[in-house]
Amino acid sequence: MIQKYVYGVPFETEAVMVPVESAKGVPAYGTVTLESGFCFSYTLDTEDVVYGLGEANRGINKRGYCYISECADDPNHTEDKRSLYAAHNFIIVSGAQTFGLFVDYPSKLTFDIGYTRMDTLKITCENADLYLYVMEGESPYDIVKQFRKIIGRSYIPPKFAFGFGQSRWGYRTKEDYRKIADGYRSNHIPMDMIYMDIDYMQDFKDFTLNEKNFHGFPEFVEELKEQNIRLIPIIDAGVKIEKGYDVYEEGVKNRYFCQREDGSDFVAAVWPGDTHFPDVLNPEARKWFGDKYRFLTEQGIEGFWNDMNEPAIFYTPEGVQEISETVKAFLEDTNGEHSIFEVKDAILNLGSNKSDYEIFYHQTDKGRVRHDKVHNLFGYNMTRAAGEAFERIDPDRRFLMFSRSSYIGMHRYGGIWTGDNKSWWSHILLNLKMMPSLNMCGFLYTGADLGGFGADATRDLVLRWLALGVFTPLMRNHSAMGTREQECFRFEDAEDFRHVIGVRYRLLPYLYSEYMKAALTDDLYFKPLAFVYPEDMHATQVEDQLMLGNEIMIAPVYTQNARGRYVYLPEEMKFVKFLPDGSIQEKILPAGHHYVDVALNEVPLFIRQGRCIPVAGEAEYADAVCTDQMTMVGYAGSKYVLYEDDGIHKDYENPDNMKTLHF
Ligand code: GLC
Repeated sequence: MIQKYVYGVPFETEAVMVPVESAKGVPAYGTVTLESGFCFSYTLDTEDVVYGLGEANRGINKRGYCYISECADDPNHTEDKRSLYAAHNFIIVSGAQTFGLFVDYPSKLTFDIGYTRMDTLKITCENADLYLYVMEGESPYDIVKQFRKIIGRSYIPPKFAFGFGQSRWGYRTKEDYRKIADGYRSNHIPMDMIYMDIDYMQDFKDFTLNEKNFHGFPEFVEELKEQNIRLIPIIDAGVKIEKGYDVYEEGVKNRYFCQREDGSDFVAAVWPGDTHFPDVLNPEARKWFGDKYRFLTEQGIEGFWNDMNEPAIFYTPEGVQEISETVKAFLEDTNGEHSIFEVKDAILNLGSNKSDYEIFYHQTDKGRVRHDKVHNLFGYNMTRAAGEAFERIDPDRRFLMFSRSSYIGMHRYGGIWTGDNKSWWSHILLNLKMMPSLNMCGFLYTGADLGGFGADATRDLVLRWLALGVFTPLMRNHSAMGTREQECFRFEDAEDFRHVIGVRYRLLPYLYSEYMKAALTDDLYFKPLAFVYPEDMHATQVEDQLMLGNEIMIAPVYTQNARGRYVYLPEEMKFVKFLPDGSIQEKILPAGHHYVDVALNEVPLFIRQGRCIPVAGEAEYADAVCTDQMTMVGYAGSKYVLYEDDGIHKDYENPDNMKTLHF
């Protein structure tokens, strides 16, 4: 059961698609006060577990910290961070009383989950203008499914997007891309995509190609397609201010950019230097910006990633002005009133400064709205612009699309990647923990920068991270300019990478099938163990293993120099290891705690009792995976229902897509 409570005059985020009647009275759980803004508070029982929040820091159980929904471009995902790139305001309290909450509010929102007081959950925001959805169900899992029903079907990418992709910030020329393609193909390391970061553009201008390096782009796209590799370009939020640049000129002329209070176009510096932000909350401007993707789709491009859409701001003219005044005050200070720390803080706060978000506006259906009031909707609507445009460009075809910033609702238009992580072992675990929470909020096509974006990767870290990435729908190795090169063929013994990524392709029919089932039935692809084994007290506490689909459990190794790991089995399972010689080792393990050996070049998984999964032969790209002759692995006598379609079109409900395989 879902109850909707209306406070004040909420902004229509369109996160929820199914009409829910407004309830009378007060929510059945906790107390709501409206004296200073909005405050929901609830006393947590000692045993209560709190799930949700999608892309957020820390554990699967969110208890014990404070999280702030305020989309931020912050590349330092340390344990103390309260905001990351997204705002996913859905939580479930599970325990003495079990209920779900979705706070549909597009501005800064704080979830204090036992931080100020260990026994108190407090959700607060400045303006009491919001929808509060309160959900009841048999279990947290049941509540998630109800929530997913009202927010609409999750985005479904084309099948090639389940292949492996290589990315790095800094590829510039066709030659750079050819080298990557060759590095993979000549080493027979499977791959389906190479990502194009900002350097493919002319001066970082959206919907342009570098004139010197990308002459004959459609032919180049074709050249790579002949090797079964797709190019996936980035699109940034800011449009460069440059006389004569068509996107800029059209945006200015039609008033499609975000404006200051006085009606002038707001200026923010990002990669291209000074830019304007397309007003993606204005339906007309959104349509205009979305149609710009045609520039690349018409040249053979089938997928994109949307970036810098929190929106990230390096600085504004207003911010720079303020700094110069702070510096001046410090320099002219003769009686010690201004400290150097004021200067230092001013400089450190120049980027994505809160005050910059208060000086520009959106022209929405409901009139003009100041950006900070709807801040968390920018990335969502930028991606929606693209998603809606793809429907016009080719309504029958699926395009690959994922975004950095997001709000619930965006899950219908694209996936997300989890932003600028680091080549740290702790970030493998953070990657794992985010996955089920993201799924709860509707984001199924997700993954992290495998190998880590910032900092220098090591061979063992990349291998271990890939062995988790084998299971994440988005499987992409991406790194920052200036860091150690981490494409798989850069390291010694490429055959280990060939093998680990090869396992992804052998599992592709299964992983794709489970993804499609989850998407088509509003279910989870990744689940915490507690959702499957709610009565098992150990399972509830497991934070480094996940259930995937309906058949398997994953438990990757995420510690350097470890030769295996401890794993908890809530029931008897078959421990399966993909060995580097291509063989599959299987061993039944009883319920309980075990130490399992897992070498750097092995991929482990666990099959639930009485179930089986199909495993294909080797393939170097998604289209080459053959599902006619698959081996069944797991418990003999069981069966598996495989979902299979052409991976291109949208004929999802066709009964021929389902096939029962017997073991
Ligand atoms: C941002 C993105 C990163 C990208 C870089 C350059 O930091 O998160 O993935 O490589 O910008 O475009």
